[in-house]
Amino acid sequence: MAGVAVFVDSRGGNTRRVADAIAEELGIVVGDIAAPLPGDARLLFLGSGTYGSAPGAGMMKFIAAGSFAGRNVALFGTSGGDDGSVKMIAVMAEALEKKGATVIGSWHSRGQFLLLNWGRPNEEDLAGARKFAREMAASR
Ligand SMILES: Cc1cc2nc3c(=O)[nH]c(=O)nc-3n(C[C@H](O)[C@H](O)[C@H](O)COP(=O)(O)O)c2cc1C
Repeated sequence: MAGVAVFVDSRGGNTRRVADAIAEELGIVVGDIAAPLPGDARLLFLGSGTYGSAPGAGMMKFIAAGSFAGRNVALFGTSGGDDGSVKMIAVMAEALEKKGATVIGSWHSRGQFLLLNWGRPNEEDLAGARKFAREMAASR
């Protein structure tokens, strides 16, 4: 899908699996957060694991470095508890809105953390992520 890009900061791979499911649904591949933001992407899916109720440092750096005016952003994340992603997504949303982005929606699931949430994100979670991708892409 043209004009759409997916980026993720995932230390352990859980949120990367979600990003891959979203990108596959859109017929694209996940971009590199260490590279500059593509100029033609009007809809960005940005995701992160939750580390101390916050996104990864790499994602915050990506947001700080990019130009987001006129872009729509859909946020996603995984965390040990439901609260964690909600807080983490709020941190990303605030930083993005300060940079002129329009946050159009968010989605999160539990992610395996030590012995918690074993096997998650699971197939049901990933199906939810794919549905979120379709809905966000349709709302552009
Ligand atoms: C250093 C560290 C800090 C974490 N802090 C939180 C937290 O504050 N709240 C929470 O709900 N989960 C927390 N978690 C759990 C992760 O958010 C969860 O395992 C997530 O799925 C990790 O995503 P990733 O595999 O993409 O890195 C933490 C995990 C690690 C490794």
